[in-house]
Amino acid sequence: MSPFLLTRTLPVDATDAALRADVLEGLTRQPKTLPPKWFYDAHGSDLFEEITRLDAYYPTRAEREILIARAGEIAAASGARTLIELGSGSSEKTRHLLDALPALHTYVPVDVSESALTAAAGALLAERPGLSVHALIADFTRPLELPDSPGPRLVAFLGGTLGNLLPHERADFLRSVRAGLAPGDGLLLGTDLVKDEATLVAAYDDPAGVTAAFNRNVLTVVDRELGADFQLGDFEHVAVWDPDNEWIEMRLRARRALSVKIRELDLVVSFEEGEELRTEISAKFREEGVRDELAAAGLRLERWWTDTRGRFALSLATAG
Ligand code: SAH
Ligand code: AVI
Repeated sequence: MSPFLLTRTLPVDATDAALRADVLEGLTRQPKTLPPKWFYDAHGSDLFEEITRLDAYYPTRAEREILIARAGEIAAASGARTLIELGSGSSEKTRHLLDALPALHTYVPVDVSESALTAAAGALLAERPGLSVHALIADFTRPLELPDSPGPRLVAFLGGTLGNLLPHERADFLRSVRAGLAPGDGLLLGTDLVKDEATLVAAYDDPAGVTAAFNRNVLTVVDRELGADFQLGDFEHVAVWDPDNEWIEMRLRARRALSVKIRELDLVVSFEEGEELRTEISAKFREEGVRDELAAAGLRLERWWTDTRGRFALSLATAG
């Protein structure tokens, strides 16, 4: 049986304090916002997995295509003995990388979603005897307490999740990744690419309403965790392309004027009819932009691979 450890570096009360702070800050400002990390309770993680199987949601398939084609090159270039994956979710695509890394000693999946981590680790335990799996429940935007494990280390940040951070958050995040890299370590980054608006909007507004349910799930989390009385039916799912910022914005639009009580915060929040709450940005990238953002954090872009249709990119960077 493989060694397996699940470590919570986010105490339950710290999660609670962070949610309170984010909800108070985000719902008392104009325009209202909530950070996307609160989508991912167990139900939200399941809904995300459902999104990855939708016809219109191409990023997962495109990234998997690149991983399958390039896993050997990535493994040869990195020679990783430890793979640290940030926002690992189901770790489903990661298997292609694990297969290509015969010398891998330790896999460290890091996620805020305990349900996603335990399901992923359970499957890996059965499939990879001998691999040490040290799962971390942690917020990847905060300093991480990583286990001791052999180098070289490869930090993987897949799925395009970098695009869910605002530009200043991305800069801070990349600098902190850079600070944790030793000579010989690398960063494997998945980024969705700028493309035509129709394809992008369709990926975030599917006809079956799975993305809408994922979007509204953040309200369920606030209702449950903070005693709020959001009614999901009062909010319409909105996905728009912002061509200036080159990102998709997901919003929840109030169908009528309404007030929501948030018991645990002793707060009443009012929405006007049509008022929108921004729940996520999903930035889309170009090669030059990725190169520049990496360089600003002290990272050098070494390799750039796209899928055959040029929709998504994987890049490999080192401490420059
Ligand atoms: N990497 C997977 C999952 C992407 S979904 C894939 O490519 O399919 C984004 C994942 O990041 C979710 O599992 C979510 O729980 C996690 N996540 C989002 N914000 C996070 C944060 N701040 N810290 C840690 N995990 C986070
Ligand atoms: C996790 N992340 C990269 C997804 C994205 O595409 O931005 C989250 C998502 N939001 C709506 N659909 C999927």
